[in-house]
Amino acid sequence: MFGNACQDTTVKSLTRFGKGEGDGEFIELTLEHPGLDNAAWKLWKPGQFVMVRPESFGLDPLMGRPFSITSADEEQGISIFFQVMGQGTRKLASLKPGEPVTLWGPLGNAFAVRKDTPTLVLAGGIGIAPFYEYVKRHEQPENLRMIFGHRPPLACYNWERAQGVCSCEAHHETCRQDLMDFIALIEETVPQYCNDGLIIACGPLPFLETIKKVADQHGGRAQLSLENRMACGVGACLGCVCDHKTEGPVSVCARGPVFWSDEIEL
Ligand SMILES: Cc1cc2nc3c(=O)[nH]c(=O)nc-3n(C[C@H](O)[C@H](O)[C@H](O)COP(=O)(O)OP(=O)(O)OC[C@H]3O[C@@H](n4cnc5c(N)ncnc54)[C@H](O)[C@@H]3O)c2cc1C
Ligand code: FES
Repeated sequence: MFGNACQDTTVKSLTRFGKGEGDGEFIELTLEHPGLDNAAWKLWKPGQFVMVRPESFGLDPLMGRPFSITSADEEQGISIFFQVMGQGTRKLASLKPGEPVTLWGPLGNAFAVRKDTPTLVLAGGIGIAPFYEYVKRHEQPENLRMIFGHRPPLACYNWERAQGVCSCEAHHETCRQDLMDFIALIEETVPQYCNDGLIIACGPLPFLETIKKVADQHGGRAQLSLENRMACGVGACLGCVCDHKTEGPVSVCARGPVFWSDEIEL
């Protein structure tokens, strides 16, 4: 869909948003914009992602790590919003301004935008990352409703960034009953958008499975962004495949990461 390039850049800033009990820290990492020589950066859209590999990875880990693009602007830089999960994100969390980073991107496809269509934006946890810019860019935000489910405190998510732009509801999950209530909300809301609305979602697999199940039951379709583990990010290693109903196994990095829910098996 878009061209992509591997470019060298540097860290501009890191902003820390804290961590929940037992959860890794949440950080916005901003890199210097590598410039618009690669025209794809001018055209990037929410849902697309980058592979990030700082020099400090050395040989461990060997491969870069994929992250949704939170924002990309030649003046402000390119930002990702991530949660510390393991060795790669731990090293990203210790970066300092000016350190060198290799960036591949923008990669993959993007969420659909239909300005006149009621659109349900479903975000689970760190799956909120692509949606800050999605809601900000939308030409008719009055058509958007964002529902955000999270376990760590809201303060971890830079939630203010989405506020005031469209209808936004955050649902904090602290116990099993909260989860059941959140699932009930999805079961009640998704069908309202199955006929002539648009549903877009990003979050953990069980969250996407619930959305797909409800959309399937009501003859609707949702766009789901899959976060399969990736190595190359460009369709070369087949490390990230998912089952496409008509095409068989397809690379999430090259064919996705956004798929219509009725096209794939989860
Ligand atoms: C297209 C795409 C967009 C993404 N966007 C974001 C984002 O915006 N913000 C963000 O925080 N994360 C995002 N992720 C997930 C992110 O890539 C992983 O958290 C990261 O690669 C973990 O690297 P690590 O070296 O710290 O962890 P590792 O040491 O590799 O693994 C640590 C733990 O995390 C688990 N893990 C690793 N990768 C994933 C994954 N993809 N899904 C679920 N569990 C995983 C491992 O199984 C292990 O338990 C995205 C993934 C994809 C494919
Ligand atoms: S990560 Fe290599 S094919 Fe997708």
